[in-house]
Amino acid sequence: MTTSTSEQGGAGRLRVGLVGFGNRALLGRLVDEHPGAQVTAVCDPDPAALDDARRAHPDAELFGTLPALLGAGVDAVMVLSPDHTHESVAVAALERGLAVFCEKPLAITADGADRILSTALEAGARLYVGHNMRHLPMVLTMRRLIAEGAVGQVEAIWCRHFVGNGGDYYFKDWHADRRNTTGLLLQKGAHDIDVIHWLAGAPTRRVTALGRLAVYGDGARSLDDRQRARDVAEPDAWPPSAHSRLHPVVDVEDISMMLMQLGNGVMASYQQCHFTPDYWRNYTVIGDEGRLENVGDMDSGEVRVWNRRHPGYAAPDVVVPFSAEPGTHGGADRALIAEFVEYAVHGGYTRTSPLAAREAVAAGEAATRSLRAGGQPVDVPPPPDEVSRSFRW
Ligand SMILES: NC(=O)c1ccc[n+]([C@@H]2O[C@H](COP(=O)([O-])OP(=O)(O)OC[C@H]3O[C@@H](n4cnc5c(N)ncnc54)[C@H](O)[C@@H]3O)[C@@H](O)[C@H]2O)c1
Repeated sequence: MTTSTSEQGGAGRLRVGLVGFGNRALLGRLVDEHPGAQVTAVCDPDPAALDDARRAHPDAELFGTLPALLGAGVDAVMVLSPDHTHESVAVAALERGLAVFCEKPLAITADGADRILSTALEAGARLYVGHNMRHLPMVLTMRRLIAEGAVGQVEAIWCRHFVGNGGDYYFKDWHADRRNTTGLLLQKGAHDIDVIHWLAGAPTRRVTALGRLAVYGDGARSLDDRQRARDVAEPDAWPPSAHSRLHPVVDVEDISMMLMQLGNGVMASYQQCHFTPDYWRNYTVIGDEGRLENVGDMDSGEVRVWNRRHPGYAAPDVVVPFSAEPGTHGGADRALIAEFVEYAVHGGYTRTSPLAAREAVAAGEAATRSLRAGGQPVDVPPPPDEVSRSFRW
């Protein structure tokens, strides 16, 4: 599955086609900055997006459809389009044997994710998923501390996710319509469910969840279901109910809480709220010999560790600072692209995992089903045997 240099673009660089040129098109700039890769084609059905692409990548070919891009001669495809399109786009590219970078979430159902993984296997094509949090200094610091035994054997992980810009980012465009995402517990939660699995060392096998649409259900709606969230952002809207121009369809939850039982017995929880004043996430990892938690996430911050007994609240026993690298998502996006290019060309180990990405989707989908059935416990289906045998967890 090695991509030979003869298959590559100018000066031996990997020829990359971008599918979807919206917010995540910023990854295209990182591709061009990489010495081994270059954006040579872009496709997007929206002419305004293609105008943006023309300015950002003047030498790239521009297309309105995926078949046209696939026919243009690219070595790799990056799927940066809305979630419900990931499955069909990734499958079409993998079937051609192309290396595929798929943004998270891998798909909007476990079945869709399994289809992508099975296609990659059958085609012998390389699949990489954009779980950039696996490159985030905050997450890497917690993972290193856990591996060093700072809290003993991990028994529980709790994540509280304060999505302060939720009104602008998730309720003004396609995200707000569950047909495009299944729900935000999967859409947004896929990042943190994956991190919880990675820190604990196993995927979720049973969930229960509760949630509702508490704030944005009654907000003023736009008539335009194709508006771009960034064009109608209201950064000064406060309280959150002051947001206007919400997407015409708003049927996803804005507050949700899931409890997870992992395959190795670890107990976890993930809480997500889209109307908090602040925007970050706070993890607590509890082991049989201590507890740690982060303060700060994308930028600089610290991981605090308590590993001695204290009466009442106590200052942490150990404080481990972390610093973000320059660039988006604390430098994680640049590391993500570097890893993808290396993998697309040479294969080998990657920090992100398609199988783990599938497990995040499966847990998020099951939790959404539980939530919409009043909290009924739901088992998370395991992947097909050939998929779990063939991909690294
Ligand atoms: N890893 C991260 O940190 C991160 C952050 C934000 C978004 N994302 C993911 O990236 C993806 C894109 O999100 P976004 O915020 O850039 O969305 P966006 O709405 O800003 O952009 C999506 C673009 O895709 C285009 N598009 C729609 N259907 C298409 C199709 N069938 N083929 C090609 N293009 C199509 C749209 O016209 C639009 O220009 C989503 O799956 C999202 O979950 C990941």
